[in-house]
Amino acid sequence: MATLKSPSGAVELPDGSPIKKAAEELGVPFGCEEGRCRTCEITVLEGQENLAPMNEQEKTHDLEQGHRLCCQAKIKKGSVTIDF
Ligand code: FES
Repeated sequence: MATLKSPSGAVELPDGSPIKKAAEELGVPFGCEEGRCRTCEITVLEGQENLAPMNEQEKTHDLEQGHRLCCQAKIKKGSVTIDF
């Protein structure tokens, strides 16, 4: 199991899964859910290496270093701490 953490709590999720549902439980707001609106943009505080590389949809945005889109990102394993 992997863990997604934020200042408000922590949610476990299977290795290799999208982080969307866990992020939703932590309170991250969502909009389009298709990688367009950036409503779900988060800052990764720790464990960036435990996220899978950005997909094409995330790459279309010029995201700041350490920023990801929760509706697109997947966790590989381990623990990732986010803020939003
Ligand atoms: S919800 Fe719109 S980019 Fe993620």
